[in-house]
Amino acid sequence: MVKCRRCRLQPGFSAATGSAMPIAPTLRSYRSDDRAAVVRLWHDAWHDGHGTVLPAHVVAERTLESFDLRLEPLEAGCLVAEVEGRIMGFSAIEGNEIDQLYVAREARGTGLAAALLTATETSLARRGIRDAAIQCSAGNDRAHRFYARAGWRDSGVRQAPIWTPDGRHETHPTHIFVKQLSSLD
Ligand SMILES: CC(C)(COP(=O)(O)OP(=O)(O)OC[C@H]1O[C@@H](n2cnc3c(N)ncnc32)[C@H](O)[C@@H]1OP(=O)(O)O)[C@@H](O)C(=O)NCCC(=O)NCCS
Repeated sequence: MVKCRRCRLQPGFSAATGSAMPIAPTLRSYRSDDRAAVVRLWHDAWHDGHGTVLPAHVVAERTLESFDLRLEPLEAGCLVAEVEGRIMGFSAIEGNEIDQLYVAREARGTGLAAALLTATETSLARRGIRDAAIQCSAGNDRAHRFYARAGWRDSGVRQAPIWTPDGRHETHPTHIFVKQLSSLD
């Protein structure tokens, strides 16, 4: 895999092997003082994953402020992945779903996302969830491969609602990934 010059300067990249080196993050619950960092990360990573996948008018509406607005109701179910005091990933759960999972560009390919996904699955299992789900926009191929590799099953594509700032109804073809979580009893 070809890496950009910027990646080569980052600690997660191994010049010897040409691939990202594993990063073992600290995984913890979200705190209110994480807010600005999480909003920034969510905004930037969302655009990486969806910027060329969703219609341009939807992408244009996903401003920094829109993510700030949406974070508040999710805060109680958020986890963050921290490396040397810097937030490099965050997830949020809602009901039986992993509602959000985003990793900073420089931490992709390092295993940090897999560690965060496992911790998020555990968090759902602790709440008694057995049948878990994740939605993945059609066209977000990297996320699709990532979930499939982590043992999630693509149960098919449906037209799922997407968030809009004025609450109007818009949909996008979305893969619904499912996984049976083990009981923690
Ligand atoms: C999705 C995400 C969390 C996955 O974390 P990651 O560290 O990138 O995941 P990994 O590198 O471990 O795995 C990604 C897989 O996609 C592959 N991949 C890498 N670039 C790709 C691309 N451009 N297209 C398709 N697949 C790609 C990798 O090779 C790997 O598959 P493999 O294990 O079969 O080789 C991360 O990329 C991210 O935050 N993306 C932006 C936000 C996003 O889309 N979030 C998910 C919303 S549902």
